[in-house]
Amino acid sequence: MTDTTSNQMWGGRFAAGPDAIMEAINASIGFDQRMAAQDIAGSRAHAAMLAATGVITDSDAKAIREGLLTVLSEIEAGDFTFSTALEDIHMNVEARLKEIIGEPAGRLHTGRSRNDQVATDFKLWVRDQLDAAESGLLALISALLSQAEAGADWVMPGFTHLQTAQPVTWGHHMMAYVEMFGRDLSRVRDARARMNESPLGAAALAGTSFPIDRDMTAKALGFDRPAANSLDAVSDRDFALEFLSTASICAMHLSRFAEELVIWSSAQFRFVTLSDRFSTGSSIMPQKKNPDAAELIRAKVGRIFGANTALMMVMKGLPLTYSKDMQEDKEQVFDAADNWMLALAAMEGMVRDMTANRDSLAAAAGSGFSTATDLADWLVRVLGLPFRDAHHVTGTLVARAESRGCDLPDLSLAEMQEVHGDITQDVYSVLGVENSINSRTSYGGTAPVQVRAQVQRWKDILG
Ligand code: ARG
Repeated sequence: MTDTTSNQMWGGRFAAGPDAIMEAINASIGFDQRMAAQDIAGSRAHAAMLAATGVITDSDAKAIREGLLTVLSEIEAGDFTFSTALEDIHMNVEARLKEIIGEPAGRLHTGRSRNDQVATDFKLWVRDQLDAAESGLLALISALLSQAEAGADWVMPGFTHLQTAQPVTWGHHMMAYVEMFGRDLSRVRDARARMNESPLGAAALAGTSFPIDRDMTAKALGFDRPAANSLDAVSDRDFALEFLSTASICAMHLSRFAEELVIWSSAQFRFVTLSDRFSTGSSIMPQKKNPDAAELIRAKVGRIFGANTALMMVMKGLPLTYSKDMQEDKEQVFDAADNWMLALAAMEGMVRDMTANRDSLAAAAGSGFSTATDLADWLVRVLGLPFRDAHHVTGTLVARAESRGCDLPDLSLAEMQEVHGDITQDVYSVLGVENSINSRTSYGGTAPVQVRAQVQRWKDILG
């Protein structure tokens, strides 16, 4: 027989085992052991199908299926010794199964290959992560809805270019993120629906001559159907890329929000107070309360998008079908998934715990000439000025207020009339921020009535 150090799974044609370096570069067991439960679920479904189609006996299938449960419990209990010589989770599980049940274990790998096996396992793993992301997003959206509902009519400055633009409501700002995370949620659901086809039974690449039933295994594993082309089934990693790109876009949203929280929690803004539970102190400056969770969430998009780029690069030049390059998919996805879930949970916690400082928000909302557009609109609506002229008159009034170091409502009527003689006392009614926000009732606008309608719409959607 073969050299005893050659791989017991495929060593038949090998006279010697691999060099230690070869073993090190080849092995994936260090990370793909995370797919043990999926691997065993896939193998159990495959064994049941082999028996149902008469490819193996019922008693062999029974021994295999029970033995696999024993292997799973050993792994879950931490009693399993993973072997680098056995390369990956698939061969580690099968080798241990052989130790436990003997000869029938060798019949499990009939009509399949590690190529369809790994694609199946990895899909099951990614699918679980999409489900976890869905839960995380729903929890985050619900935390944002609570904030929006509580502060539907709290005024704050709205920004463009991070310059004060117009007053908006706190609820409106929170609901902007609900829209973003809502789109992320729909991307997660789309990705899940699209990926849910079973590669199992595609075998190495060409299908198999055994009378397998791919519908049966697909159903047993919760897939909607078997993948229709065996070449594609073993070489497709779109599902992993779609996972990573969905995660990247969501992480980008998380990062933008995190950036706002970092700014808002600073002493210069004081828009929000983050809870002690989601802040840290400084070892040297006793006054500091740092928004570390927000900063780390802001950073996560770097590694998640990095994973997306890395896997794109791995895949882009690969001829059909499977190449070992594809083993490099897992660490990227594992790391991105871990960090995406962590970022979602941390953001949810921060949002639930944070306090909006209503007074600081209101004070900031009224400064920076935030109602200049309302003044220009008044000139159009009441005096009948063309908007361009109204814009010019308002700009002149802003310049006056600025040179006096006051805000627009602090200018006297006489000062206003120096700029345009027809301005009346009525103009002051539009210079207040409350008026400003209440007037913006267009669909999707910042008026509390609109914000409350959007909160209700989301509550109805989420049920
Ligand atoms: N460990 C491998 C991977 O993660 C499993 C598939 C190996 N297939 C093969 N033909 N060598 O991709």
